[in-house]
Amino acid sequence: MQKMILILDFGSQYTQLIARRVRELNIYSEIHPWNKCPEITENIQGVILSGSPFSVRDIAAPKPDLSEIKGKLPLLGICFGAQYLAHNYGGEVSASNKREYGRANLTFLDSSCDLLEGVDTGSQVWMSHGDTINELPSSFEKIASTEDVDYAGFRVSGETTYGIQFHPEVYHSTDGKKIIENFAVNIAGCSQDWTPDAFVESTVEELKKKIGSDKVILGLSGGVDSSVAAVLLHQAIGKNLHCIFVNNGLLRKNEYSEVLDSYKNMGLNVKGVDASAQFYAALKGFTDPELKRKAIGKVFIDVFDEESKKVENAKWLGQGTIYPDVIESVSVSGGPSQTIKSHHNVGGLPDFMTLKVVEPLKLLFKDEVRRVGKSLGISQNILGRHPFPGPGLGIRILGEVTPEKVAILQEVDSIFINGLKNAGLYDEVWQAGAIFLPVNSVGVMGDERTYENAVALRAVTSTDGMTADWCHLPYEVLGKISNKIINQVKGINRVTYDISSKPPATIEWE
Ligand code: XMP
Repeated sequence: MQKMILILDFGSQYTQLIARRVRELNIYSEIHPWNKCPEITENIQGVILSGSPFSVRDIAAPKPDLSEIKGKLPLLGICFGAQYLAHNYGGEVSASNKREYGRANLTFLDSSCDLLEGVDTGSQVWMSHGDTINELPSSFEKIASTEDVDYAGFRVSGETTYGIQFHPEVYHSTDGKKIIENFAVNIAGCSQDWTPDAFVESTVEELKKKIGSDKVILGLSGGVDSSVAAVLLHQAIGKNLHCIFVNNGLLRKNEYSEVLDSYKNMGLNVKGVDASAQFYAALKGFTDPELKRKAIGKVFIDVFDEESKKVENAKWLGQGTIYPDVIESVSVSGGPSQTIKSHHNVGGLPDFMTLKVVEPLKLLFKDEVRRVGKSLGISQNILGRHPFPGPGLGIRILGEVTPEKVAILQEVDSIFINGLKNAGLYDEVWQAGAIFLPVNSVGVMGDERTYENAVALRAVTSTDGMTADWCHLPYEVLGKISNKIINQVKGINRVTYDISSKPPATIEWE
């Protein structure tokens, strides 16, 4: 079984970051909700308790049973996790009357403590809590303080149990990474061998065993996740992987043919299905964004269902699901979300949904997927792509979608994206695209008055799409791109640049 650090989640906004910091050390870690703690088997080398929006003093606060963990395995409580240890084993936690949010510095630290090896007094840490530990249980020893927080860290004598009230997983804790490394490597004894190559090797073996000589169907989107999932599956089962790439008529300029070609060059058994006409027909007359999304989703399911029936005896559906989708769907208080319902067809489940599901990336974060893709030899052209929404240009054409508007927007988008690439800015931007506005404006070209459409350009920086800021692109680059669009794209006489951040705006306009 895969060796790992287990992270018990109490609902902190930073829990995913703890897992990432551990994995950056090439040590595998998994997040589980505290109330669905897996069986503590030999492969679990250490446990981290996350922070939480709860106070340990709340009646509804999580109360994990640590009897199989504390004193038996290396254990690190962070923030709420530390306060829970103190509170539960005889200490005292109360509401803090000082501000314990933001940057602080360690004014005292016990340099003999193995958790703090290599950390110096003065080190900056990130605090974020409303409660504080006032009194430690008798077997607990203080290992760190800040000016405002006396028990910033503690250890339990005779055990490899530690607690810290600050967040080592947050970038602002300058020695946070070192503390996590001390815990995972020196204290829990994890070896740092969880690399992309090792992941590929073990996953391919697992997939071979799991799937045997069965056939798998997988829908490719041109994006990073489905492409990496396909190549992994291909390495495991070769031609028994049947990929379907649907052209919904809402892709970027030339994307369908170019991406299909590159999939074929990668040796994938892929079938391209051009269903543009079906999508355009289904979108006719719709202006509401959600109705457009539903129409696109329904045609996609119909087309995919039809195509998958042609693959005889298929037993599995491959999917490019990644870790954040899996973690987000399990809440601290509730069970798995019921997202599958949005896929339901009027006449019941489509046939392909009765297949067993195989998701080779479901334990990876996005950047890890990219590194695995690199180790698989997938081109940077696919791995470095900006995210692109499933409904594609359908939600970037405000109002009714027509093939004519799609053709115009594809040209505009292509000039914008190539302009970013030529300026060396594509990789600096998290996501970029153009929006076709349902607005005509007056212009003048030569001696002629024009009355044509306006477009908006959108480029944002982000880490996960949950929040985003508009990119401060250089004026010269924007100027060149705008000139080119107005000169070359018939039907457009005005270009605007979107300078809204998310929140309160969103990345897409619809
Ligand atoms: P928003 O517009 O919500 O977008 O700020 C956040 C991220 O999600 C993408 N997005 C979608 N992706 N289907 C998708 O597959 C959709 O309906 C959809 N709507 C938005 C968006 O491109 C951005 O990356």
